[in-house]
Amino acid sequence: MLTSGYLSRLVALLLCIVFPLYLAIRGSASLSDIALLFSSLSERAEALHVALISPLVAPPSLNSQEAFKAPGEPARPVRSPKGGKEKRYPTLPDGLAHCINSFEKYPFLAEQVLQRKYTRYAKQTPAQKSMSRKLGYPAHFEKARKGIEVNARFSEQIAQIAREGYRTGPRALEDEEDAEFGLVDLAFAHLSRDWSSQGAKERQAVFPPVLAGLEQHFGGNERGNKVLVPGSGLGRLASDIADFGYDVVANELDYGSILAYHLLTNHTTSLHQHTLYPFVTKWTHQANPSSRYSALTVPDHWPNKAVKLVEGDFLEMFPRDGEFDAVVTLFFIDMAANAIDFLSNIHRLLKPGGLWINLGPLKWGTHTALQLSAEEVLHLADLIGFDVDHTSRKSIDSLYADQPDVLLKFTYGEYMWSFIISENGC
Ligand SMILES: C[S@@+](CC[C@H](N)C(=O)[O-])C[C@H]1O[C@@H](n2cnc3c(N)ncnc32)[C@H](O)[C@@H]1O
Repeated sequence: MLTSGYLSRLVALLLCIVFPLYLAIRGSASLSDIALLFSSLSERAEALHVALISPLVAPPSLNSQEAFKAPGEPARPVRSPKGGKEKRYPTLPDGLAHCINSFEKYPFLAEQVLQRKYTRYAKQTPAQKSMSRKLGYPAHFEKARKGIEVNARFSEQIAQIAREGYRTGPRALEDEEDAEFGLVDLAFAHLSRDWSSQGAKERQAVFPPVLAGLEQHFGGNERGNKVLVPGSGLGRLASDIADFGYDVVANELDYGSILAYHLLTNHTTSLHQHTLYPFVTKWTHQANPSSRYSALTVPDHWPNKAVKLVEGDFLEMFPRDGEFDAVVTLFFIDMAANAIDFLSNIHRLLKPGGLWINLGPLKWGTHTALQLSAEEVLHLADLIGFDVDHTSRKSIDSLYADQPDVLLKFTYGEYMWSFIISENGC
């Protein structure tokens, strides 16, 4: 065990320091490039020194991915490996250790992303580098590193609170390869969508129709009506619904979102307390050199503490039939492995006369059994026993966790519909 731990640290040392240095020198880097590289490497060497002297801290995962996703790439649920494999941390919920580990390792993972960019930069010819310097390109590495430092403090807080809340103790939670840059990156993008002033425009496109649908159905009698928001993400819609007086239950499966939500809801003492640079490693599709360093602060509004968050799979966490007066799904039903299971479960959870409001694109994953069109979803809802309120249909275009000032925008076309269960429950 000990030997393999030290071996993997040695590999990390070679990959993170010796190899990039070799590349830079072989690529006839200029003195200023080498100076820049040394400044980056001194920080990494320090981090690795800590790793080498501490038996509890492992070297950074080497499987993190820079993979550019659409800014609004909706979260896929994080689960720990199943399929007969023994649960690695039997006392912790599925996926939690992986998420804590990812938040803790964020500085290493983000630095790896930057290092890959630097390696490509450093491979240029001297003439190309001289021109890149005239563009001021090397400054990007330093600016990005400063943003990563700020993000790392935030990410560390999330992990710390999670460790306390779930009583993980000080033990290491990692597998060798079990930390994921994309998970933290996505949590940051969701924070921007849900809890920053920059996300307001995006929320304005989709929240008001949902809130209006609820108001129309309940006619201003919000109190006492129980609303479920499955796939609640960072929880802003659930919180805004609760602000109207509904009794709201949010449900989420992904600890990337859940842990960030805990920090905002239970460990934040002032609005705009936390600063983030959510786009600092995203360098493509930029309209100008500085937009990738745009900072935002969260939360821009107090999370409603009356919301009850149920952590776990929507299909498993609610055994009681007819528990809710309304179910609201926003960018959610296309997460289903089988849409029939999701729609049947929504139907089962609603009281007679209950309301389901759905809004979102049908961006089915490749893992799903049915990739239905909007018309087929309506037909399925009808087969399951919902009455489709055709007057409620709205066609909406919106962005999802979008980065400001980027040249490539992913606009999602969504339909919104309300579905009602008739009073006799059929
Ligand atoms: C695309 S995100 C949408 C989040 C939020 N509703 C929004 O509009 O920003 C879908 C969310 O559903 C969650 N999710 C997927 N399957 C789930 C399940 N079976 N139970 C609970 N949550 C689930 C994912 O983890 C993810 O946070």
